[in-house]
Formats: sequence, C-alpha cells, structure tokens
Amino acid sequence: NFTRATLAEEGRAVSTATATNMGEENSGNVRKDLANLFEQSLRVTVPNEANVEPLVAACTGKFGDYQCNNAMGLWQKIKGASDFKAPRAVGEALKNNLPHSDMVRSLEVAGPGFVNVVLSESWIAKTIQKMLTNGIQTWAPRISVAKVVVDFSSPNIAKEMHVGHLRSTIIGDTLARMFEFSNVEVLRRNHVGDWGTQFGMLIEFLFEMFPNWEDAKETAIADLQKFYKDSKKRFDEDPAFKERAQKAVVRLQGGEATYRKAWAQICDISRKEFDGVYQRLGIRLEEKGESFYNPYIPDVLEKLSNLGLVEESQGARVIRVEGFEIPLIVVKSDGGFNYASTDLTALWYRLNEERAEWIIYVTDVGQSQHFEMFFKAARRAGWLPADSNTYPRVSHVGFGLVLGEDGKRFRTRNTEVVRLVDLLDEAKSRSKATLIQREKDKEWSKEELDQIAEAIGYGAVKYADLKNNRLTNYTFNFDQMLNDKGNTAVYLLYAHARICSIIRKSGVDIEELKKTGEIHLDHPSERALGVHLLRFAETVEEACANLLPNVLCDYLYNLSENFGKFYESCQVVGSNEQTSRLLLCESTAVVMRQCFHLLGIVPVYKI
Ligand code: ARG
Repeated sequence: NFTRATLAEEGRAVSTATATNMGEENSGNVRKDLANLFEQSLRVTVPNEANVEPLVAACTGKFGDYQCNNAMGLWQKIKGASDFKAPRAVGEALKNNLPHSDMVRSLEVAGPGFVNVVLSESWIAKTIQKMLTNGIQTWAPRISVAKVVVDFSSPNIAKEMHVGHLRSTIIGDTLARMFEFSNVEVLRRNHVGDWGTQFGMLIEFLFEMFPNWEDAKETAIADLQKFYKDSKKRFDEDPAFKERAQKAVVRLQGGEATYRKAWAQICDISRKEFDGVYQRLGIRLEEKGESFYNPYIPDVLEKLSNLGLVEESQGARVIRVEGFEIPLIVVKSDGGFNYASTDLTALWYRLNEERAEWIIYVTDVGQSQHFEMFFKAARRAGWLPADSNTYPRVSHVGFGLVLGEDGKRFRTRNTEVVRLVDLLDEAKSRSKATLIQREKDKEWSKEELDQIAEAIGYGAVKYADLKNNRLTNYTFNFDQMLNDKGNTAVYLLYAHARICSIIRKSGVDIEELKKTGEIHLDHPSERALGVHLLRFAETVEEACANLLPNVLCDYLYNLSENFGKFYESCQVVGSNEQTSRLLLCESTAVVMRQCFHLLGIVPVYKI
C-alpha cells in the first residue's frame, strides 16, 4: 500500500532539511537535490501554487538523465487564470527560473513541457571522487525518522521454521540493514511464538514420555518437530490427554514452577536451532517473544476497555473495526488471550516504552487481515494518527509464497515442509561442487574454499528471494539461482571479484590513487556508468520508503551491466586514461559491496 505519496512525503521532509542547509550543495541524493532546485523554480514560476510538489524522476534515454514533469499538470490547473499560452510555456518558465547549479550541464524542454536535465560530467566525476575519499556513508539516505522496529523472522517454538520464515528473515534483515545504513536506530525484533495453547500439549507429552525429563535435559526431545507432531497426534486421538493438556496450559500460565521449567526447556531447544540458522545467514536479532508481552496484556486491554472499545460477543471480548463483518477477538470465550491481544500489547509497548516511530512487520500476505484489523483497532484507540503515512506509523510488509517446480507450495523430497538447514546445506554443497569442478580446491586453502562456497550458496538463496517484488510468489530453483549468468548473486559476486582482480593486477596502489587521481567521463559508457553510480543514494532511499528490497537488486544488476559495457568498450590497464578508469572500477566495486552488504550477502574477492 505504499504509494508514491509516501515517497513524496519522505522526499519533502528531507528536502526541507537540506534547503536550510544549502551551503552543503548536495545530499548525495541527486533526484532529491534536483527536486529541490525545481521547487525553488516552481515558487517563482507559479507563486500562487505554493503546495505543488516538484515531480522529478530519473530517466534513461538520449534526452536527459532526469526529467521534471510538473508543467502539464500545472497547466490544467492554471490555464484560465494565467498568461501561459500552453503547457510547454510553463515548462519553458520552469527551465528559465531554475537556480544555477553545478549539477546541471544543460536543460531542454521537450514534448508538452517536460524539462529534461542533463547532468554535468565534471560534476558527476567530482561527486564520485568525493564519495571515494569520504566513504560510501556520505551517500547514505537521510530519512526523517529516528527509531524503527523491524519485527521479522518470528518462527514458532517447536513448530517448523519453514521457508516462509526464511523469507521473513531475509527480507526483514535487509530492511533493517537499509535503515541502519541511513542512520536510523533499528530495533530488530524476533516476535517468537513461544506462548499459547500448544504448550499444554507439549508439556503434558513431555511428562508422559520422559518422566526424568529434567535429568535427560534436551536430549530427551532432540527432534522437537517430531515431538510436536507426536504430541499433536496424541492430543487429537485421546480425549483424556486433551483434557490434561488443557489443564497444563492453565497451570503454565498460572506460573507453576515445574510447568514453567518444562516450557523454558522446550523453548531453549528451539532457540538453539533458530540461532544456528541465524548464524549461518549472518542475521542479528533480539528475541522478544509473545511471552514477553503476556504480563502487559491485562493492563493494555483495560486501557482499551476504558476507551469503550471492547465489547462482549458470544462469550468473547472483541473490538469492532470498520470494514470487517467479524470483530477482532481480544479475549477468547475461555478467557485466554490470543495472537491479536499479544500484538496489540506489543504495539502499545513499542510505541510507549520503546518510543518507536515506525513499526514494520514482515510476514506472509496470508496474515494481511490480522494486521489490517489490529492496526485499525489501534487507530480507533488513538494510538496511531488517522493518516497511515504520518508518524508514528505501522506497516505490514507482506510477501508471497515460495513455490516448488510443480507450482505448488515448496517442499523437498518426501518431507512435508522444507527444513531450512537442509536448504542451506544444499546451497553450500552445490556451490562448493562447482568450485571444485573449476579446480579451485587446488588454488585455495580449505577454509577459503568453504568460505567462498558459503558466500555464494547463501548469497544465491538470499538474492533469489530479494530480487522479486516481495508480493509475488516465486519458484525455488537451485539450478537457476546458482547460474553464473543472468540476474543471480553468483553473476554479481563474480562480477565484483573480477573488478577487484583488474585493480589488483594493475599493480597500482588504489588507496594512493584515490587521493591524487581524477575521474574523467569522456566515453559514453563511462558517463553512463557514472550516472548510474550516482543513483545509488536515491535508490536506497526509495527502497526504504517503499519497503521494497527488489529495487536495490535491480539497481545492483544494472550497475553490473553498466560496468560490463564500460569494460567492453574502454581499455583500463595500460591506456592513457588508466588512472580515471581504475578509479571508476574502484567506485563500482565500492558501491557493489555496499549493495551486497545491504542485501546481507558476503562479497567475494577472488574467483
Ligand atoms: N509467529 C508468527 C508466525 O509464524 C509470526 C509473527 C509475526 N509478528 C507479529 N508481531 N505478529 O506466523
């Protein structure tokens, strides 16, 4: 639901900030800096239209690098009441009133009034050089939000951590990384499903199967998934067991020591398994599971009741929300709390205790209704402003299914769901096999081989996920994701390694060169590469504002393509332009590495 308006709003907030800081000249975000200039032009051109947003977009084509397309819309609004004869005249005026800037080489009005902007080559070169000297951090987006919660991964204890959780983990981590790069404080929250009625059944089964469970420690239930399944079977088949399980829930929730201990032990086993996956994928997370919020629920529900929001319905307590026939249940008819009461409480906690301004939930789209409903309940309570784009705000980042080759939900071999660890093992062993086939085991140490195989294997899994618009389903295919051609992590990692090797083989000290050398963009392919490098900051900012990592993947892939065209047509080592071109190589490598970093992919330096 992230419209252009969100982006425009973000853009405006930041552009006002930079406008007061004009001495600095540019923010790293070219689109925004140009929008800033056009905003000034708009104020002069149409003084009575104070609220008009500058509409500036990047374009590719022979006419320019960016384009302002305010003229046509403005014309529609003002044609009767102004001296302008045609939309094109508005465009001409916007062009003529644009303040002078080093950024711009030339301006041209085209068609019905587009203003095309051609960037100045020397300015592009200078800006890239500055980034090389001062670091990629100077191109970090400036986002007008101080603290963000990213609620992601969030598997359920004892149940399978499945591919859906893998998607949540990968997408959530990337979002967190993008915000962190943008100097936003990020609370990475693992909202683990560690509370609820399934624990009665699990604990009761534990007592039954392993009378000495305390001594046996976790070895008793090493295979927690199997344990879950068996206890579920027992629960469904034996009414007496079912009754005991239901009583166990009450005793657990009442805080009885033995039950708490058994619960903690079961959670611990799951946690170790999750941590294994996080470690392999390089994911940092702080667990605040459902149980954490449980003690706060009664208070929060009381606040909601006092506001008159909570009603009685068929023995349950509910909140009605606009647009839904069924209400949101917050206390079940048996008096127990549920997913919604926990989420409302977690939201309250995040807003009031943690003072987060933007709370982002990463789950499959199947949960959209849950989020929509409890967001609405929170709005009714006045916790959130009516306008969903105003802070504090909440966003549900939904994603589609992972499909198998048969077009059905992804499964491996005979298992019902895919075990994440098996997936990662296979990704690694496949990429290792390819490296060995290329006799890299003779060239590299055993550790290097392992490291690179992991970087490629896990990178491939992550990238195959992130490159798709998250809302679409995608097909999981090892052969495709591990292909070294096309839009894959392998292709991109190789491309980066090749650039590093060009620089290495030149024998030049690149750190020295950064201090003294100059970039020139004379060849069209050099210029195109330069312009694309400059688009990094606005791309990350768009990916953040719209919560869409695939935007960054597209950018990275295009960067690699642009580099390829440059390298094809421009000799680097041994040419007259060696210095400038080596610096372009280095800039590309730096930006590629930053993209990898944001996507949670470990770069490779040799191949
Ligand atoms: N544990 C849930 C599941 O596996 C996801 C939790 C998402 N976060 C939240 N605050 N509801 O489906």
